[in-house]
Amino acid sequence: MPSPFVKIQDQDNQSQDLIIVPPSSGIALTGTIAIPGDKSISHRALMLGAIAEGTTIIQGLLLGEDPLSTARCFRAMGAKISQLNTEKVVVKGVGLGNLKEPSYVLNAGNSGTTMRLMLGLLASHPGKFFAVTGDKSLRSRPMSRVVEPLTQMGATIWGRENNSLAPLAVRGQKLKAIHYLSPVASAQVKSCVLLAGLMTEGKTTVTEPALSRDHSERMLQAFGAELEINPKTNSVTITGQPTLKGQTVIVPGDISSAAFWLVAAAIVPGSELLITNVGINPTRTGVLEALAMMEADIVQENERVVAGEPVADLRVKHSQLKACTIGGEIIPRLIDEVPILAVAAAFAEGTTVIKDAQELRVKESDRLAVMATELGKMGAQITELPDGLEITGGATLTGADLDSFTDHRIAMSLAIAALNAQGSTTIHRAEAASISYPNFVDTLKAAISE
Ligand code: S3P
Repeated sequence: MPSPFVKIQDQDNQSQDLIIVPPSSGIALTGTIAIPGDKSISHRALMLGAIAEGTTIIQGLLLGEDPLSTARCFRAMGAKISQLNTEKVVVKGVGLGNLKEPSYVLNAGNSGTTMRLMLGLLASHPGKFFAVTGDKSLRSRPMSRVVEPLTQMGATIWGRENNSLAPLAVRGQKLKAIHYLSPVASAQVKSCVLLAGLMTEGKTTVTEPALSRDHSERMLQAFGAELEINPKTNSVTITGQPTLKGQTVIVPGDISSAAFWLVAAAIVPGSELLITNVGINPTRTGVLEALAMMEADIVQENERVVAGEPVADLRVKHSQLKACTIGGEIIPRLIDEVPILAVAAAFAEGTTVIKDAQELRVKESDRLAVMATELGKMGAQITELPDGLEITGGATLTGADLDSFTDHRIAMSLAIAALNAQGSTTIHRAEAASISYPNFVDTLKAAISE
């Protein structure tokens, strides 16, 4: 049902304001929400489909801007990818090692996953030349974290700032297997090295300081690659030059998108939501553990396994949240949910500390700085720490003039905060939400019960 409390206003051809004006009686959220497909799994399904032999069928693909960037890049390198839709995408792969040299620059848009994973594949295509770029945000994000291991494997990559910033130029090489000790717990780094290892003779190993999401490992195995996983040391080894065979991939809903509704219903009085078909892979469920520590009322129902990934429906009801401390090994498992957890903390009793989260400074925006400034404008008691945030909950938030900094997760986190604020909030450049959640605003309107 259309809501009079949530409006979109076009600023110019590209930019939109999201205006949220909760009535003084408050806005409750009720009903059932089906969230869009998982972004990480969508990228990987398109990429592995593109390099495998035969046909891959993808059901439930995320139609956000980021997977569109992946599809555009791999089409330019010869993969046949049908029109993108959520029902059934058909990918006809080129076979391992057969990506075509594109005659133009590959553009990863806003997507770090597209660029970093793709670089592993490009660097390992001997004799071929590739140029890759992205939007303004992506061109400022560190690529050294993947250029470094790829260079150790023998890759040739050039770019600005000592080969660390896109645009990057890649001359594909026959790479050598290495054991890479990654200084960061990053699934993008791990996946980049594993994808480079696909084309490389022998065994390539990545060890990370804490476990990051393992969708690449699961999907590579499903497509026929040989992996050894050592959970004690957070190491993964891939044996090079397998035959990858096209598969059917059923993409579960994205827990990172579900997180907005989990927090919305938890903080807005009178709310109860059922969020269906949520991927609950343990490398992604840090947000559920953090919200449990905050005493949120969330119940997992109908747990099942769909195409190798665990899935459940989540029922969430409003409750008074309590502060907690979030840090250490849980951080990589809730890395994208820190902005929305900061919103939860602003409505919790006591002081929440989020630490060990310095990685947030190199996401689509500096998410620590942006959340501190923007929630601060609403009157939240929030302090930026070098590696996190300290938030004392309980202050009444007031509507304010805010900016997404073109970061999708910031736009959506601020929208949820605005639901529980007094007065009108405007979020500039809110169209950024479509990077990972194209119908976020429509879903929000439909969930508001009057
Ligand atoms: C992703 C990994 C994470 C995450 C990003 C998606 C992936 O990034 O923040 O949204 O699909 O591999 P890092 O690997 O940089 O932590």
